[in-house]
Amino acid sequence: MNKLIVSLLLTVGISGIAHAAGDATAGQAKAAVCGACHGPDGNSMAPNFPKLAGQGERYLNKQLHDIKSGKRTVLEMTGLLTNLSDQDLADIAAYFASQKGSVGAADPKVVARGEALFRGGDLAKGLPACTGCHSPNGAGNAAAGFPHLGGQHAQYVAKQLTDFRKEEGGRNNDGDTKTMQTIAKRLSDEDIAAVSSYIQGLH
Ligand code: HEC
Ligand code: HEC
Repeated sequence: MNKLIVSLLLTVGISGIAHAAGDATAGQAKAAVCGACHGPDGNSMAPNFPKLAGQGERYLNKQLHDIKSGKRTVLEMTGLLTNLSDQDLADIAAYFASQKGSVGAADPKVVARGEALFRGGDLAKGLPACTGCHSPNGAGNAAAGFPHLGGQHAQYVAKQLTDFRKEEGGRNNDGDTKTMQTIAKRLSDEDIAAVSSYIQGLH
């Protein structure tokens, strides 16, 4: 790692912007209660419960803080994070990030449209390619906090894109830049169905 990056990381650490470093081993025990919905290793079986296995640690930690504070509403998790400290959340994020994510299959009927959107966006709609931030194989960019999407349940992905698109009562915890809200508003229902199916089979 070059000296500039090291000094930047130190500055961020000292100014307290960075969250506590997570311990995956400690996180496994703390994540026991989560397994009922998300699967013991984070590979959930139900299509409405997101897979957490192999998800980026920074992204997971951010979502946990947002869900705990109510910035992102997850009714199914009401009260579950209330008594967990920043260290607990960091440990749990480290545990799920260290697991291997499973992959599903795409619907052959819509895979071509889904792939075209994911890889090329749609110039006419001013839609950027998803690969720019979520990477060509859907692995995301863990350091930047861009989530891993490859293999995620299509039903969950479609719900997120629909929620990002909503003016009210949706998902609006994507920061001041509103990147995903802006992108989702340019997607039709058909686009969402196709790209979500493609993502489920992507690895
Ligand atoms: C009763 C079921 C249930 C339990 C138990 C549960 N969750 Fe969740 N969780 C959900 C659902 C449903 C969502 C997605 C909500 C949505 O559609 O936005 C979710 C979303 C998440 C997300 C966001 C994932 C993403 O890709 O953005 C994280 C992180 C998470 N849960 C972590 C946890 C942790 C850690 C625990 C244990 C302390 C836990 N959950 C317990 C149901 C559950
Ligand atoms: C400029 C970067 C950027 C581009 C381009 C982008 N995304 Fe995202 N995406 C993000 C970020 C950052 C988040 C996390 C937002 C947050 O903190 O909640 C995200 C979150 C998501 C999520 C939620 C993941 C989860 O586990 O809940 C989905 C689904 C998603 N993006 C799909 C897409 C699709 C489909 C495209 C292409 C049409 C796309 N993104 C293009 C940056 C991007």
